[in-house]
Amino acid sequence: MTDTAKLTAGGGETEYPVLAGSVGPDVVDIRKLYANTGMFTYDPGFTSTASCESGLTYIDGDEGVLLHRGYPIGQLAEQSSFMEVSYLLLNGELPSKDELESFSWTISRHTMLHEQLATFYRGFRRDAHPMAIMCGVVGALSAFYHDSTDITDPHQRMIASYRLIAKMPTIAAMAYKYSMGQPFLYPDNSLSYTGNFLRMTFGVPAEPYEVNPAVEKAMDRIFILHADHEQNASTSTVRLAGSSGANPFACIAAGIACLWGPAHGGANEAALNMLREIGRPERIPEYIARAKNKDDPFRLMGFGHRVYKNYDPRATVMQATVREVFESLKVSDPVFETALKLEEIALNDEYFIEKKLFPNVDFYSGVILSAIGFPTEMFTVLFALARTVGWVAQWNEMISDPAQKIGRPRQLYTGPTQRDYVPVEQR
Ligand code: SDX
Repeated sequence: MTDTAKLTAGGGETEYPVLAGSVGPDVVDIRKLYANTGMFTYDPGFTSTASCESGLTYIDGDEGVLLHRGYPIGQLAEQSSFMEVSYLLLNGELPSKDELESFSWTISRHTMLHEQLATFYRGFRRDAHPMAIMCGVVGALSAFYHDSTDITDPHQRMIASYRLIAKMPTIAAMAYKYSMGQPFLYPDNSLSYTGNFLRMTFGVPAEPYEVNPAVEKAMDRIFILHADHEQNASTSTVRLAGSSGANPFACIAAGIACLWGPAHGGANEAALNMLREIGRPERIPEYIARAKNKDDPFRLMGFGHRVYKNYDPRATVMQATVREVFESLKVSDPVFETALKLEEIALNDEYFIEKKLFPNVDFYSGVILSAIGFPTEMFTVLFALARTVGWVAQWNEMISDPAQKIGRPRQLYTGPTQRDYVPVEQR
């Protein structure tokens, strides 16, 4: 017997089925609400709205749980690799050794970019934000890879998916090199996915580049932590763009644009800039007060989350990884101490406790990325690089969903009702 939800409104009572997932909140299926009542639901920000059915990622915000195809993020971060998690997200199961080798080999065969795209970079100013370059170059991919833009062809969808996952590290590294005025390095497929990215980013043609295994492991773990995250703003953007039948390169470019916002993926850059601005622990109370001041637009970057009302499990892993990277690189950064102190003070402050504001994935990531050598402008580029597999997996799931149709929300109209045009002489 399916549970139902009754609605008494608009002069009558209507009933809607309640659907249950494998875990997490049930949903009220309101697809017939407008036809039955002539009314819409109203949920700006989609705080209580499930936009789709998905089997990719499950988040329990109260418990601080994050599962990818059922596997806890802590176990994946500790025991898996970004290539293996990518396979898992795309295919639903962990690969066998042979399946992983074949997948990694296939991805490595798509790491090069069409040579003319290198010219595309030269159209940007050297001081262009690398996210602006990322938006432009990824959007331009559909001008070069026409043979994988037909979304009705599963084979073309798979090729486009592999191309996007494989080329993002190359595109990201080239954006960094361009900003540095250094020559681009071609991929070296004898390296791992992450090792290849590090070499393309920090290597130079003038000398060999040795991948530091500790940095490679930390970077790979950071990619795992950013791979997918349910129906966040950028993933919802990719799904909405994809629902119109747009080609996958255009959809991922839309997701990159959305991720750039400081309320979303841009928070990692903003969080490190904020920590550097705070500087010394003695200045933390001033910023906590600003974050609590309703009249001050300032927010603690890297804190709070729409879904997590507990500690973001990714932030836990990220904090531990800071210590590992500092230890292996024999470096330290006073910003980390400031971050730890800020977290301690905030988590004991009534405001943050009452609003359930905890550090999120972006709070510590910048500290590690800075220690590895990335400038803050590259932080969101790295988030986009890793999230591409999640966007691509969600896009494929949406296209294969028989229930999917073009996304077209309605509105509560509060503008002027109909009135007649007044010629300018009479105004
Ligand atoms: C990511 O969705 C995802 O899954 C995203 C992500 C992913 O992997 O895709 O997890 C990645 O985007 C992480 C979030 C990164 N953003 C930041 O760190 C920016 C700072 N955080 C906030 O802007 C905010 O917390 C959001 C945007 C993350 C969430 O905002 P919500 O869910 O819309 O919550 P809200 O703005 O309604 O805040 C609720 C209350 C408000 O106070 P009241 O109006 O109720 O009095 O909490 C306050 C807010 O003012 N608040 C904060 C705060 N975050 C929320 N106050 C101070 N500092 C903050 N960081």
